[in-house]
This record gives sequence, C-alpha cells and structure tokens, in this order.
Amino acid sequence: MDAATTAAMLHALRDPTGVPSHPLIFQVLMVFTWIPHILFVNLTLGSALMALYAFMRRNEPHWQRLSEAMTKVAKVGVSLLVVLGVAPLLFTQTIYDPQWYASNVLSAAWVIGFIFTLTVGYLAWFTFYFKNHGEHAPAWAGWLGAFGLAMFLLDGFIMHVLSYQGLLPDQWFNWYVPHGQVDMSGTVIHAWQAPRFGFYLAMSATLFGIFLMAYADYFRSRPDRPADYLAFARRMGARIAVVGAGAQLVLLLWWLLDVPSHLGMWAHPMSWALMAFIAVLAAAVWLARTGEPGAGYRLMAMGVGMAALVAIFREALRMAYLQPFAYSAIEYKVLWDVPPFVMFLLTLVGVGGLMGGFIITAAYKSGRVQGMYEADATLRRLAVGSLTSTIVWVAAFIGTGIWIWLRNH
Ligand code: HEM
Repeated sequence: MDAATTAAMLHALRDPTGVPSHPLIFQVLMVFTWIPHILFVNLTLGSALMALYAFMRRNEPHWQRLSEAMTKVAKVGVSLLVVLGVAPLLFTQTIYDPQWYASNVLSAAWVIGFIFTLTVGYLAWFTFYFKNHGEHAPAWAGWLGAFGLAMFLLDGFIMHVLSYQGLLPDQWFNWYVPHGQVDMSGTVIHAWQAPRFGFYLAMSATLFGIFLMAYADYFRSRPDRPADYLAFARRMGARIAVVGAGAQLVLLLWWLLDVPSHLGMWAHPMSWALMAFIAVLAAAVWLARTGEPGAGYRLMAMGVGMAALVAIFREALRMAYLQPFAYSAIEYKVLWDVPPFVMFLLTLVGVGGLMGGFIITAAYKSGRVQGMYEADATLRRLAVGSLTSTIVWVAAFIGTGIWIWLRNH
C-alpha cells in the first residue's frame, strides 16, 4: 500500500470523537507510565531466571536462600507489572488507536492467548513459590517454575509483536489479505524484531543485577541476613549488570542497524543519549563492584533513569516510523471535556500518589526490621491520608454520577 493511501487509512481509523484534552498530555503520560511497567518486567524476568538457576544449586545455603528470595521477588513482580501495564495501555489506545487495534486484530489469537498463558504461567510460578522451601524442595516444582518463566517470556514477546506490528501500517493490508485471500484467523505473527526484543531481555539482566546490589544494601540492617550472603549477592549482581549493559549496547547498535535508515534514527539525539547513558551505567556498576556497600540505591536511581531514556527513545522511534504516513499523535482531534480529565488527574495524584506512597513506604520500612514492625508517625499520617483520599474519591465518583443522573431526569 502506498504512503498516501496508508495515511488516509490511518486517519480514517482514528476515533472520530477525538480525545478530551491536549494529545501531548496523553503522549507524555503514556511514555512515563510505561517506565514502571518495563522496570517490573525487567525485575520479574531477571529474578525468575535467577530463582531457577539458584534452585538447581539449592544444596548450597547461599543459593538456596537466594532462590527462595528471588522466587518471591518474581511473584510480586508479575502482579505489579500487570497492574502497571494498564496505564500505558489506556494511553496507547487513546492516541495510537489505529496502530494498537489493527495490530491486535491481525494477531488476535495471540492477544487472547496472552491472557491464558499469563494466567497459567502465574499459577505455575505460584506453585513453585509454595514448594520452593529448603534444600529438599521437589525437582518437579522447578520444572513448573521454568514453565512459568517460559510463559512470561512468551507474553513479553506477544507485547513486543503488538508494539512492532503497529509501526508498519503499509504492510497491514498484505497481512490481512495475503495472496488475495482474506485471512481472518488472527493466528499469524506477522512481524517481530530480534534486536528490539533482545534489548529488553538484556535490560532485564542489567536492572536485575543492579536490584541485587540494592537488595544486598537494603538487608544490611537485618541481623538474620548474614554479611557473607549479602556480599555474595552484591558481587554477583555487579557481574550480571555489567554483562547485561554490554549486551544492551551491542543489541542497541543492532537495533539501530535494523531500523530503515531513511527514518534517521542514527542522527537522533535520543539514540546517542541512550547509548551514552548505558555506557556510563556500566562503568558506574564496574566501579562499584568491589567498593563499599551502599552504591546499590544510587545505581537503582540510574537504572530508573535508563528506563526513562528507553521509554523516550521508543516513542521517538514510533514517531519516526509513522512520520512518512503523516501520522502524528499531537494532531489528534480534541473535543475538550475538562471535568472528567481533572478528576482523572486528581485521582492519579491524590489517590494514586498517597496510596502508592503509603504502600511503598510501609513495605520499605517494615522489611528492614526483623519480627514485628511498629508504624512510625510518617507512616501513620500516610495511612490516614490515603484512606481519606480514597473515601473522598469514592464519594466524588458516586456523587458526580448521582448528580448527572438527577440533572437528566
Ligand atoms: C509477563 C507479562 C508481560 C511482559 C513480559 C511484558 C513485556 C513488555 C515488553 C518487553 C514491552 C515492550 C515491547 C516493545 O517495545 O517492543 C511491553 C510493552 C507494553 N506492555 Fe507489557 N508485558 C507484559 C504484560 C503486560 C500487561 C498485562 C499489560 C497491560 C495490562 C502490558 C502493557 C504493555 C503496554 C501498554 C506496552 C506498550 C505498548 C505500546 O506502546 O505499543 N504488558 N511489555
């Protein structure tokens, strides 16, 4: 399909009712809400692989302890990556609806399969978690864990395919009508990009390695975590992170080589900013590998920074792919609808911020003490704040509904 017809198709596929406020707001929110999603994807994939590797060596005390801990990390990680995937999903389908829905429909069987494989994979991981205690944990539980990880990887791959197919609108028609025959099965994966998917896997190694260093720093205050175990985790974390960052650099170069050169990504500042940042991160981990404990948190902050750059780079890439078809999210039709949008923002900041802040603070503080944790004044204030904001939110939500209903009667 030529560029002009593709452009016309993309514009026709947009939602005619438009978006309720400036599209830039949705674009920025999409980029920034994707950061926590990918951070937990990376953490989950890395910790799951480590849990399984350590499980195979569970007759040694450090490995056995590490396996149990990382099994728990992956268990929590999956639930968070799923919850945190919802926000970018809402924004993607608001400003990139033609791309997202066309891609989903073209591989519909995989999208539906995604739900089942994620559910079955998580159940398998949970069983592994229940059974992975002590050096005599049964080997079959490890196989279930491996199956769970395989499902998570498959789901990540499906997410990648959906993202990537959306960038190639001039090929959709050929995929839908191959050799003149309409294919409505949705069973075909039409396009994927090895370096792009590989980059996310390497990123999982980097971020997981850094996490392991921060994990060792975090538990320094706990007498039930022996110092030699924490040193073992920190050393291994540094090694994994350096190898991951090196692999990321290679895969990023390969990725850029794979992007059509006329899209100009080699000259894009984000490509070089990302490359430079990964190199600096690798150097920082390398320097911290033998130093005093305590660098883990700083490196974690750098890891979040890297994920932010990846998110922006990914969006720059999407804009470059769609530019030949005159598609720009910024030009989306706007039908201003201020009250619901204000309510959404207040919910995000008020309920999300306070409740999220409370949960994170409670988890952070309670994990640092052995045995029973007594909440301090800050945590108590956060608890009251988050509960109050939730009550106000529920009242405002239901109240607005009743008010609109009464006005229309
Ligand atoms: C184990 C499960 C999952 C894994 C491993 C995973 C992994 C990934 C990866 C690697 C990407 C980047 C793809 C690319 O840029 O090529 C991605 C993107 C994304 N994921 Fe996930 N994901 C998972 C589950 C979910 C779930 C349950 C949701 C929604 C509730 C979700 C929402 C998204 C969204 C919205 C994007 C960005 C799509 C776009 O901008 O085009 N993910 N995910």
